Amino acid sequence: MNNDILKILISQDEIKEKVKELGQLITKDYKDKDLMVIGILKGCIVFLSDLIREINLPLTMDFMVVSSYGSSTKSSGVVRIVKDLEKDIAGKDILIVEDIVDTGLTLSYLVEYLKSRNASSVKICTLLEKPDRRKAEVDLEYVGFHIPDEFVVGYGLDYAELYRNLPFVCVLKPEVYS
Ligand code: PRP
Ligand code: MN
Ligand code: MG
Repeated sequence: MNNDILKILISQDEIKEKVKELGQLITKDYKDKDLMVIGILKGCIVFLSDLIREINLPLTMDFMVVSSYGSSTKSSGVVRIVKDLEKDIAGKDILIVEDIVDTGLTLSYLVEYLKSRNASSVKICTLLEKPDRRKAEVDLEYVGFHIPDEFVVGYGLDYAELYRNLPFVCVLKPEVYS
């Protein structure tokens, strides 16, 4: 697995520091709210599990499974809800947690969907975002890192379902994709 890595883009330490910072901000902003964290599986898992331990507030959690990429490195632009929320979210202050915002198609769809279910507020926290790739407009309240248009893996992000368990964000060697 480590042989496939071309370069590390964001180290374990950099991520740790940023997650702490985001957790503190969220703790401050959601002090008197009814916070519900919604993780978008599977990419969110590592970031979300670290992030919630830096949020010093009562919160509830749920997860959605959506799919737009499949096993390709490009977004198909079609968002499919594979697993929906379990409970009513009316009146909740929703914080969507994502690993990456690329075209924004997944999130622009999800934000509208959650608002239509009468959440009090819907905001987004993403570890990574690629500003050059946006196709749909989305307001990103909390962003860890802005990254260039390179296909990255690790810390929850996959290529063909692999590499999610790498503890940093990195770029793979070109031959891995062929
Ligand atoms: C990836 C990523 C985001 C989405 C971003 O998920 O985790 O959820 O694509 O793309 P967009 O901004 O272009 O819509 P993916 O569909 O690969 O599923 P996964 O989280 O299970 O890896
Ligand atoms: Mn995802
Ligand atoms: Mg993926």
